[in-house]
Amino acid sequence: MSANETKTEVLPNVDGFKICCIGAGYVGGPTMAVIAKHCPNIRVTVVDLSQPRIDAWNSSKLPIYEPGLQDIVESVRGKNLFFTTNIDEEIVAADMIFISVNTPTKTKGIGKGCASNVKNIEACARNIAKVAKSSKIIVEKSTVPVQTASAISKILRANSDGSVDFQVLSNPEFLAEGTAVRDLLAPSRVLIGGPQNEAGFEAINKLVAVYANWVPRQQILTTNVWSSELSKLVANAYLAQRISSINSISMLCEASKADVEEVARAVGADVRIGPHFLRASVGFGGSCFQKDILNLVYLCESFGLPEVAEYWRQVVTMNEWQKERFTRRMISAMFNTITSKKICLYGFAFKKDTGDTRETAAAYVAKYLLDEDAMITIYDPKVEEEDMWMEFKYTLGITEATHPNLKKSIVLVHDPYEAAKDAHAIAIMTEWDEFKDYDYEKIFANMTKPAFMFDGRNILDHQKLYDIGFEVQCIGKQLPSHFDE
Ligand code: UDX
Ligand code: ADP
Repeated sequence: MSANETKTEVLPNVDGFKICCIGAGYVGGPTMAVIAKHCPNIRVTVVDLSQPRIDAWNSSKLPIYEPGLQDIVESVRGKNLFFTTNIDEEIVAADMIFISVNTPTKTKGIGKGCASNVKNIEACARNIAKVAKSSKIIVEKSTVPVQTASAISKILRANSDGSVDFQVLSNPEFLAEGTAVRDLLAPSRVLIGGPQNEAGFEAINKLVAVYANWVPRQQILTTNVWSSELSKLVANAYLAQRISSINSISMLCEASKADVEEVARAVGADVRIGPHFLRASVGFGGSCFQKDILNLVYLCESFGLPEVAEYWRQVVTMNEWQKERFTRRMISAMFNTITSKKICLYGFAFKKDTGDTRETAAAYVAKYLLDEDAMITIYDPKVEEEDMWMEFKYTLGITEATHPNLKKSIVLVHDPYEAAKDAHAIAIMTEWDEFKDYDYEKIFANMTKPAFMFDGRNILDHQKLYDIGFEVQCIGKQLPSHFDE
């Protein structure tokens, strides 16, 4: 019997409910803002350990950039949406607690480089058990290894006196950055996993009732906890696999004179395949894809399934090779040396319409260029300098200690024309729309010749650039060169 077959048709009344979300990040902030917007009778409070982060959510400059988010936050903040560091107080008051803390890939110990570090989740569970005085529904929102809900349940039970009940649900987030608000307002589906018993169904139905305020009921799927947790990893693995697949084909296209965009269009026209996530690129980034696949790999290995683990690991291996290969092509085109050459990267965010730099392909490309002693200028319309340095430090281990001239070799510039001035090459790292509209004649005139353009996103008008005089290379197709004339 599933929750759908029980009392779901008459959903419980959740008016007057209090929701607390632990973790005011990319997931917690936008998700709670949209819940608050659509559930005026629910009081939503987002809590975080970080005072600066909470202050930013309470200010006119939110800590994350997402199109449409500012308007939604401003419309409900102070009414039924609150941001605070009073974590314990809000846990006590809440009927339902979402856990939306970060779960980065472990950098040491068992599962290093693969498994997710769930210490923040465990800390939340222990804290809830310590301070809660009444029964609560706990909703695991962060992407977590399968079985985390069960671990949370055990910690809660072992650390409370038994007078209160905790039902732990899994409700993975499928929003994509840059379109988070749109994805939350009109999700393809909402997935809720919970214990398959009466108390579990009751808790599931309460969460269904929250979402049913704006999501059509048939798009709210209910499953057992494991299926829900695993589905999140599998969804991201499938999406990433499509990108690695088309990127692998991009290499074949460059070698064979086929055009990867034509191939993608032809292949994607088959309704069984579909057109989405077939854009060849310099490589996928973001906080989820690599982490989730590595999580899946670790899970398979833990269950003694090395062949399955290897199958999925290849998606990440192919992505790594795409980033390295892109840089190798750049170096090869520029006469096999880029020592002291100025190279300009357009874009540092892992995709357009976000300032997020986590696992961005641009950082890897910059690292390979840095290893060849290039002078790198970076322009991105949204990335903050501090986030760029954090990415170099925490993902790639690049600091002034490892590279003494780092802040001379890599410079974030706030004007795209200035960034490209005297450069030998421009490389497009992020598909920002504004890159399509620049005055490339002016840019070309101020560059060192021959001036190279490496389009890592295939967004520019390559013929026009060629006509201006650029040596152009892109992903997955051979373009004419002035040197062939
Ligand atoms: C992803 C999932 O899409 C989302 O459902 C999940 O909740 C979180 O992870 P996100 O990482 O925000 O979302 O962005 P997404 O749009 O999936 O892009 C990920 C990366 O793949 C980006 O670097 C993007 O540029 C790249 N990409 C995407 C391609 O290179 N080609 C494509 O065709 C699509
Ligand atoms: P995500 O992309 O998963 O939302 P973020 O890093 O953007 O990840 O946000 C996670 C947030 O969780 C951070 O603001 C961090 O300070 C917060 N956080 C981590 N651990 C705890 C904890 N134990 N209690 C409260 N907040 C926490």
